[in-house]
Amino acid sequence: MNINDSNIKKAVKYLNNEECIGIPTETVYGLAANAYSNKATKKIFNLKGRPANNPLIVHYYNIQDLEKDCVTNALFYKLYKSLSPGPITFILKLKNQSKISKNVTNNKKTLGVRFPSHRIARTLLKSLKYPLAAPSANISEGISPVTKDDVYDEFGEKIKFVLNGGRSKVGVESTIISLVKKPQILRLGGLDISILNKKLKLKLEKRLHSRGNINSPGRKRVHYSPGIPIRLNAVKIKKDEALILIKKRKENNKNYFYLSKTNNLIESVKNLYKTLRKIKKLGYKKIAVQRIPNRKFGLVINDRLLRASQK
Ligand code: TXA
Ligand code: MG
Repeated sequence: MNINDSNIKKAVKYLNNEECIGIPTETVYGLAANAYSNKATKKIFNLKGRPANNPLIVHYYNIQDLEKDCVTNALFYKLYKSLSPGPITFILKLKNQSKISKNVTNNKKTLGVRFPSHRIARTLLKSLKYPLAAPSANISEGISPVTKDDVYDEFGEKIKFVLNGGRSKVGVESTIISLVKKPQILRLGGLDISILNKKLKLKLEKRLHSRGNINSPGRKRVHYSPGIPIRLNAVKIKKDEALILIKKRKENNKNYFYLSKTNNLIESVKNLYKTLRKIKKLGYKKIAVQRIPNRKFGLVINDRLLRASQK
């Protein structure tokens, strides 16, 4: 698609009319609206059933646009240069003269920003005069969508338009890094964080589990839930369960669902949400998951499963 493509034009029209629409990104699909508009951003919260105190991420086309709204620093430029556009969200200080709607930040002085690499998302952002606020396009606390059909699955008739960008390549949300005070990783995600250390010689502290009075409510423990119980580190499948596996077993079983057949963790993370959604749709009442190694993207899978399995 290019800027003159009729679907991009349609998307621009909806957004200029302060509507929210579904958009593809390389991580997951987003529910997008003009980040400068109070009216448009309010619609995101209403559609998702999202608490007003859970701030949204804003998506930019380039750094010049971002500099109008945020205070940047040396570490930001360093990370941006090697990792953007891509599956990374930066938390930065908001500028006083920023036009970002107060709904986006919940009146706070920081902003989550991201430069998606998906070609269609970039074409859309380039065609607009404002950045896009976009949380994952799912009902609050549910599973993030990775195709346009997943978005319709979540919102049905309530959503007016979804821009189709095929299946999200990464399949899990962006990695969130706060650069406001001491740099910290707030959410594991689509970025392989081992490269921070290897390539950039950075060792960042992790602060993943929010406790009590927190600045990122969406990182609370119950999240990404398919709405049915999940049993972790399962060896044998029990009656009525769907078993999620990452390595091929000799025996066939219609209740086995593979994220990968070869222990491939990148493939597994890509298939995670799709598989959880599929199992739920098939009507299973319980899910069991084989032990997933706690390394590389296994860490992300375990993080999401742990949150999804909280009652
Ligand atoms: O990959 C992604 O990041 C996707 C795509 C659509 O870009 N978006 C996404 O947005 O996952 P959402 O809203 O589902 O998750 C964003 C998380 C939330 O947990 C929110 O609490 C946190 O980022 N967040 C947003 N602004 C923040 C801020 N200023 N400080 C700390 N956490 C923030
Ligand atoms: Mg989300």
